[in-house]
Amino acid sequence: MTIDNDNDLVQLRAISRIVYETLMVMKQHLKPGVSTLELDRIGEQHLARYGARSAPILMYDFPGHTCISINEEAAHGIPSSRVIENGDVVNIDVSAELNGYFGDTGATFTVGEVEPRIEYLCQVTRKALRAAMNVARAGARINQIGQAIEKTAQQAGFTTIKDLGSHGIGRSLHEEPHFIPNFYDRNDQRRLVEGQVITIEPFVSTGAESTVTAADGWTLLTGKGNYSAQYEYTMVITRDKPIVLTTSKAAA
Ligand code: CO
Ligand code: CO
Repeated sequence: MTIDNDNDLVQLRAISRIVYETLMVMKQHLKPGVSTLELDRIGEQHLARYGARSAPILMYDFPGHTCISINEEAAHGIPSSRVIENGDVVNIDVSAELNGYFGDTGATFTVGEVEPRIEYLCQVTRKALRAAMNVARAGARINQIGQAIEKTAQQAGFTTIKDLGSHGIGRSLHEEPHFIPNFYDRNDQRRLVEGQVITIEPFVSTGAESTVTAADGWTLLTGKGNYSAQYEYTMVITRDKPIVLTTSKAAA
């Protein structure tokens, strides 16, 4: 959506702050021994405190309130009895709706000791998000986002996952502009517009460039031995830096 009044911004800030806080509360409980279902319940309860509804359930009938993806799972992992172990790389993605507005955020966390290259992967993915935000301005081509992400990943010796991407959001979880790729598409003529609400969520991998859907029908796998990281903010496009909505900061 494109914001056209103060109420839009107030409502988007509210739901975006709720999903961010939910992610942070889940992060606090992310320790060896906890199951992903227990983590999901914590997320469910936090959303319920505000009367927010899980977007994956609302939009897609997803079998969980949040998506929790571990190691070779890139996204859309289903909360289950699986127990978190030392060395796991865990992505938590929280999206929800309140009063008809949607917010979406995600982050990848390492549990205990992981290889230095995995910590580097996470660092590079956060850098890719910042690089993409630096070029996300009203009037800029949408493909500059993918270009910035791809360049940052490649310079570090990593790949981007090409079948996952960022998206418009606001009145629905996924809306125009649909699918903002993690790579440079020279034929993409679309431009960003002032007031447009989008996510930026780079998916960077140690080697994978695509995913396959697991037998459960939801989980997107990159293949054995691959790790990926994703960090996602919901933001408003302006003529200057985007306004990040998925933060704990009070409305400016
Ligand atoms: Co998300
Ligand atoms: Co998203």
